[in-house]
Amino acid sequence: MRIAIIGTGYVGLTTGACLAAIGHEVTCLDSDQSKVETLRAGRVPIFEPHIEEILEEAHDRLQFTTLYEEAIPRAQVVFIAVGTPPLPDGSPDLQYLRAAAAAIGGNLGLEFTVVVNKSTVPIGSGNWVESLIREARGKQPAEFAVASNPEFLREGSALHDSLYADRIVIGTDSPRAVDVLTNLYRPILEQSFIAPTYLARPEHLAAVPLVTTDLASAELIKYAANSFLALKISFINEIGRLAERVGADVALVAKGIGLDSRIGTRFLQAGLGWGGSCFAKDTSAVVATAADYGLAMPIVSAARLVNQQQRERVVEKLLGELKILKGKTVGLLGLAFKPNTDDLRDAPSLDIARGLLARGATVAVHDPVAMERARKEQPDLCVRYVENAEQVAEASDAVVLVTEWPQYQDIDWEAMARTARGAFLLDGRLFLDGARVAKAGWKYTRL
Ligand code: UDX
Repeated sequence: MRIAIIGTGYVGLTTGACLAAIGHEVTCLDSDQSKVETLRAGRVPIFEPHIEEILEEAHDRLQFTTLYEEAIPRAQVVFIAVGTPPLPDGSPDLQYLRAAAAAIGGNLGLEFTVVVNKSTVPIGSGNWVESLIREARGKQPAEFAVASNPEFLREGSALHDSLYADRIVIGTDSPRAVDVLTNLYRPILEQSFIAPTYLARPEHLAAVPLVTTDLASAELIKYAANSFLALKISFINEIGRLAERVGADVALVAKGIGLDSRIGTRFLQAGLGWGGSCFAKDTSAVVATAADYGLAMPIVSAARLVNQQQRERVVEKLLGELKILKGKTVGLLGLAFKPNTDDLRDAPSLDIARGLLARGATVAVHDPVAMERARKEQPDLCVRYVENAEQVAEASDAVVLVTEWPQYQDIDWEAMARTARGAFLLDGRLFLDGARVAKAGWKYTRL
């Protein structure tokens, strides 16, 4: 099928790459000329494992453009995957969605087209997009239907999550649109595509379930899924606080409860809590949307509060250990909101660094991939960027492990302890072998 994708961020580019890889003709559109040129030159503006390989493999079926008149008229399906970043009041900024809908409306061809909202958008956006398209068309005829097809991919495993999805959700009031999108996704639904060598199909995955709904339900599924995952993490972190007081091990508690299949082991990793582009934005949107209807969302609100407190607990624990932070040096291992990405959106590291700087500490930071981005995106963050993990400890009074990059497992803790001024290590992700680190001369504590 002929597909257009508006927006080449994480979601747009991954969707484009995967749809091209399973055999569709895809045109990716971005208003940013330099991004399009980068992509045309075969370079990738995001950090995501295997994305280069899959784009290379699907090269013949992929085009990049800044022009709506090139992407839209021939497309049978148009995906809107533009950013909806949070505004200062927490509500999503819909200017890019509005612009995309209007431009799609102005360029639709005569064939039936399905316009799909893939960005996480406020409930009711499907109807809004439809009215914007109609408005842009004026008196020109067009046959189209709007659908919501939320994306559940995680950064760092975006391709895996798209090709081997747990489910595909299609929300629309148009049976014709359901047919078109079912055909589009058939190779994934039936798992009939040839798996790339670098992304093996999970054993036992024979088919991916399809959930068809009305527009509003699909839109709410996305928010409800992310809110639930976020509160699962906050729940284990709240239990972690109690575990610490009573002398229990939260990791063992998580294992013990997670093996109950009704609970499940995933998303019960205690520590610094969630960051990233989705959980904060989506939980805040849930609370804001509910407030529009006079509803409180106490559970989701509490999950947000607990998550924020986890970041503050780092500073509190350091205060407890070092007493006075003014004039002290704290090293942070990791900046990205999680490993395998350079994404710094809502990263706990930033709140922690700011909290320490505000109390007069010097902060040295290391991250295997996110430092360049941090320098660019956080120009006012007065931290010292160092070249390797070992340098983080040099002359530091304490070190905090913020992101569980696998390479931090291999640190020579003994050598590091020798260069540190105070060998105090706070493991914010419950990631390291505490006994080994303690043997290497560190006072090891978990968050
Ligand atoms: C998330 C959702 O998982 C995905 O379905 C949605 O489409 C977008 O938002 P992402 O933000 O890429 O994906 O990252 P994810 O792997 O879900 O992790 C989110 C945050 O939670 C990270 O900061 C991670 O460190 C933290 N986390 C995750 C925990 O603290 N504990 C866990 O057990 C799992």
